[in-house]
Amino acid sequence: MASFRPSVVAAAAASLAISTVLAGVFDLPKLPPPDRYGTVVIDRLSTANNVKPVVFSHWRHRARYSCRVCHFELGFQFETNATEITEKDNRHGLFCGACHNGKEAFAHEERTCERCHAGKVRSEKKAFHEFRRRLPDAPFGNEIDWMAAQEDLEPRYAFFKDEKPLDYTTELQLEAEWFNIPPAVFPHGAHVQLLDCANCHPDVFNIKKKTTEHFEMRFILEGRFCGACHLTVAFPLNDCMRCHPAMHRNP
Ligand code: HEC
Ligand code: HEC
Ligand code: HEC
Ligand code: HEC
Ligand code: HEC
Ligand code: HEC
Repeated sequence: MASFRPSVVAAAAASLAISTVLAGVFDLPKLPPPDRYGTVVIDRLSTANNVKPVVFSHWRHRARYSCRVCHFELGFQFETNATEITEKDNRHGLFCGACHNGKEAFAHEERTCERCHAGKVRSEKKAFHEFRRRLPDAPFGNEIDWMAAQEDLEPRYAFFKDEKPLDYTTELQLEAEWFNIPPAVFPHGAHVQLLDCANCHPDVFNIKKKTTEHFEMRFILEGRFCGACHLTVAFPLNDCMRCHPAMHRNP
């Protein structure tokens, strides 16, 4: 972040498309290929217990379930290796075992251990390409416009009860502290179809607009605030204009 100089940035932005200039100011993490974006390796206990680490791909699962199913109802954390998942829990129908029981998805049994304990991330190009072919494109991440794809995929909002998303669609304009930077928009409507209010309030964001402290890009890039999801699973930060819609216009 040594090159973090608002005045220089604002001056440059006056003559060029802002997003192009600014994209270089922030150290955006290198993105994995689209078939592996959102794929995590869970190894809190595996290696220590002489089994291979577990590979979990978000794209396969989010096609069928909202984030809320796993990250609210089933109790997975938004951070790899933070959830206390054990072999016993899985066998007793918790965590992965809530679905991998031979009914909802393949069972937890001798011949399936290695489907989960795959060891390392492998290319899923072929299966992914097949899946993605009929879905709308996006420029980054999985390169799928997941918002638009939802109409087609209809991921399940709730797992245990027949609940529906709350009808809360307030769209917030989050004004940037920097001169000449167009505000970020935060659409509640898009998020509440996939998430529970409690996934964000009060731990990630205060419930009052513009009261969350240190709400800036450099913290977002550290995985806080919007970065809790928009670095690794939801469309990544590279997609400036999707959050700052006015950025494509030259001022
Ligand atoms: C549906 C996915 C899935 C299947 C199938 C599965 N596991 Fe696991 N297993 C996990 C996850 C996730 C963890 C937690 C990994 C970690 O923290 O390292 C885990 C943890 C473990 C651990 C270490 C933790 C502990 O509680 O002892 C062992 C040992 C283990 N599994 C053995 C097995 C064996 C043996 C099989 C096949 C009979 C199997 N697993 C099948 C997902 C699975
Ligand atoms: C089928 C279950 C499931 C679904 C659906 C799901 N996740 Fe996850 N997610 C997990 C698991 C399991 C982990 C790893 C947790 C752990 O190791 O403690 C994880 C981890 C994460 C992480 C941390 C990633 C990292 O790099 O450390 C983020 C962010 C995340 N999920 C966001 C989402 C979002 C956003 C959605 C909805 C679009 C979603 N998840 C849907 C199961 C799921
Ligand atoms: C909410 C239900 C649900 C939960 C929770 C869940 N899964 Fe799955 N999983 C599925 C379904 C359904 C499929 C089949 C999806 C497909 O391929 O279209 C699947 C597919 C998979 C596959 C792909 C298998 C293959 O070889 O093609 C793996 C690996 C996997 N899950 C691992 C896990 C692990 C590890 C966890 C826990 C960390 C987990 N799943 C939690 C429902 C779930
Ligand atoms: C993905 C994260 C996320 C989810 C999910 C979410 N919110 Fe928010 N919410 C925010 C953010 C970001 C703000 C603005 C915080 C700030 O500016 O400091 C906010 C602000 C608010 C505000 C204050 C609005 C204002 O004008 O001051 C209310 C009220 C609110 N949320 C209610 C809800 C309710 C009800 C739900 C569930 C139906 C919900 N939120 C789900 C992220 C979320
Ligand atoms: C808890 C996870 C989470 C957090 C935190 C979060 N988002 Fe999202 N957001 C998502 C998911 C999931 C989507 C669906 C699209 C995708 O996965 O690429 C989404 C979609 C969006 C969209 C696209 C709407 C559309 O119609 O195309 C915008 C804009 C957006 N988020 C902005 C923000 C901003 C700004 C913040 C921070 C104030 C934020 N998000 C925080 C998970 C999150
Ligand atoms: C997931 C949504 C999201 C994406 C994608 C995103 N931003 Fe931001 N950005 C924000 C939010 C939220 C703020 C804080 C707004 C505020 O101050 O209330 C912000 C603030 C800023 C600021 C003001 C200075 C600061 O650090 O607060 C600049 C400059 C900026 N963004 C540039 C960019 C650029 C360049 C990109 C693309 C590389 C980008 N943003 C992508 C959400 C996003």
